[in-house]
Amino acid sequence: MDIRIGFIGCGGIAKAHMMRLSKIEGIKFVSMCDLNENFAKECAEIYGGNPYTDFRKMLDNEKLDACYICIPPFAHSGQEEECIERNIPFFIEKPIHLDLEKAKMINEKIKEKNVITSVGYVLRYFDIVEQLKSEIKKEKIGLVRGKYYGEVPAGGKKLWLIKKEMSGGQLIEQATHTLDLMRYICGDVEEIYTYKFEGINNKIYPEYNVEDALTLIMKFKNGIIGNLTCTWLLKGYDIDIEIVGKDVLFLFKRNTIEINRGIKVEQYISNIDPMYEEDLAFIKSVKENNPKYIKSDYNDALKTLEITIKAHESEQKGQPIKLTV
Ligand SMILES: NC(=O)c1ccc[n+]([C@@H]2O[C@H](COP(=O)([O-])OP(=O)(O)OC[C@H]3O[C@@H](n4cnc5c(N)ncnc54)[C@H](O)[C@@H]3O)[C@@H](O)[C@H]2O)c1
Repeated sequence: MDIRIGFIGCGGIAKAHMMRLSKIEGIKFVSMCDLNENFAKECAEIYGGNPYTDFRKMLDNEKLDACYICIPPFAHSGQEEECIERNIPFFIEKPIHLDLEKAKMINEKIKEKNVITSVGYVLRYFDIVEQLKSEIKKEKIGLVRGKYYGEVPAGGKKLWLIKKEMSGGQLIEQATHTLDLMRYICGDVEEIYTYKFEGINNKIYPEYNVEDALTLIMKFKNGIIGNLTCTWLLKGYDIDIEIVGKDVLFLFKRNTIEINRGIKVEQYISNIDPMYEEDLAFIKSVKENNPKYIKSDYNDALKTLEITIKAHESEQKGQPIKLTV
């Protein structure tokens, strides 16, 4: 029996998932929903399924085994709750919400109904990340440093990304990937403190009202200390994570890890497509009704969301903040 999939949101990332899902055996696209009817129709023509502009209508009319929620952060308005209500497993893109309290309520509903969820923290699906995690377990780690450097997305043309009320800003919307991977590798965070810089990009892009740069200091529950810096001041795109242990420096950069022990530097390059692995893991979990293949579920992603939202609370209050999720 094919897994019957519906999409809510047929924009950039949705198409990236559709392309990968179409290569997986045993799936069928049954419905495509986007507020922009042309986007829904275009995806339905390419991949199959009925086009919709109203996700509630789609969920009422179609019998889905799984739903992909690929909408911008500001657009979360009942999509998750409607899937939970109908016991439909869902894949949801990061960030899972802009409102932490609403995300907590959704998480409680997921737990009550035991619905399978997967969140688009795609970097977790690199094979080298598992290798890095197991190497790190053997070492005494003290420090982790991450970065997410990029340029103003789409040259400022994708307006929702550069507006605080729509995307949450660079940390919540994009640098969350680096932060989540730091958590996945080094463990949960106990306390944070943040500074931000602003005032350059908003002179160039009239709608721009988010940070230009931000630095987040973290104390992990296991005692490791670390920081994440992010900026949209540059051209291009660069992310990496360095982890420092006794006599060893680990580096994760794009699809590569490096283990530097001074006298010897080992390098491992991944040739897999982590997004394909992420989609496959979700589909296998739905097929087997067992979430064991999923590396980031809603409950876990809530912890990453809490850090990014409270990072802004910290820079506004000028105080360190303890995490509670
Ligand atoms: N994991 C990753 O690497 C990755 C990469 C890119 C984007 N994303 C995430 O995916 C999400 C979407 O980003 P995108 O780049 O695809 O944005 P996008 O603007 O290209 O597409 C979003 C689509 O959602 C539609 N939409 C909005 N509200 C809707 C609603 N209520 N019902 C149906 N459709 C609705 C819009 O019309 C639009 O077509 C964001 O949260 C983003 O952070 C993740």
